[in-house]
Amino acid sequence: MSSQSVLQGRDLKKSFGPTAALAGVDIAIHRGEALAIMGPSGSGKSTLLHCLAGIMKPDSGEVHLLGERIDDLGERKRSALRRTRFGFVFQFGQLLPELPADENVALPLMLGGVPRARAVQQARTWFGPLGLAGMEGRRPGELSGGQAQRVAIARALVTRPAVVFADEPTGALDQATGHATMRLLVEATKHNDASLVVVTHDTQVADACDRVVEVRDGRLLTQGQPGPYAAAPHLPGQPVPGRGGAR
Ligand SMILES: Nc1ncnc2c1ncn2[C@@H]1O[C@H](COP(=O)(O)OP(=O)(O)O)[C@@H](O)[C@H]1O
Ligand SMILES: [Mg+2]
Repeated sequence: MSSQSVLQGRDLKKSFGPTAALAGVDIAIHRGEALAIMGPSGSGKSTLLHCLAGIMKPDSGEVHLLGERIDDLGERKRSALRRTRFGFVFQFGQLLPELPADENVALPLMLGGVPRARAVQQARTWFGPLGLAGMEGRRPGELSGGQAQRVAIARALVTRPAVVFADEPTGALDQATGHATMRLLVEATKHNDASLVVVTHDTQVADACDRVVEVRDGRLLTQGQPGPYAAAPHLPGQPVPGRGGAR
């Protein structure tokens, strides 16, 4: 595999009964990049993300993280891998309502064995940079949707993962808040040297990313093949205008 790629999916297939959610997908996520996965509802975006992230086992094909095969690990090892190497931001319902924001962020550290006081202390350092100063003691019900997603971003990054996965992370937010949150997600993952894989159907959300791939009926559209979401043509290896560019 390319030394540039952090995560690779090879010929991934996954069916639910007669439905081929993934019909053979090859995909590589490069180090430090923000990759948007777009496509219509039901095209297989979430299934692809779940297979790449070790949430779901593909029926066939392989997933490699930094050169090591991960799709064939048992549930225990995949669960540990998700906790230590990956971060997750979902549409909603991911924060524990009974815990204050700082403990929500500290949770992945505590699950990894960091003592509570130190985990919370470490968690709190994320609040200022994410525009959440003063929100540490609030429960999720006392936060706006945008604030709650920023807490979720902190929680996804607190373990310093290699890859952050986000499935429609701005789907429950109004457009302006959604785009601001998306920019913050891209900036924060880059700042922490993580790669980002974000599923979205919002072209402006995808515009915040470095690269866009499109899924249709369980397959990736050929790179460069213009689909309805395709951006203006650009030279390979050149920064895409308005997409944050190369680093
Ligand atoms: N757990 C499941 N059981 C049955 N069918 C599923 C399941 N998950 C996904 N599918 C089907 O697989 C296809 C792809 O789904 P999904 O990956 O969720 O698409 P997307 O995220 O692009 O909307 C759809 O036809 C969907 O109905
Ligand atoms: Mg989905």
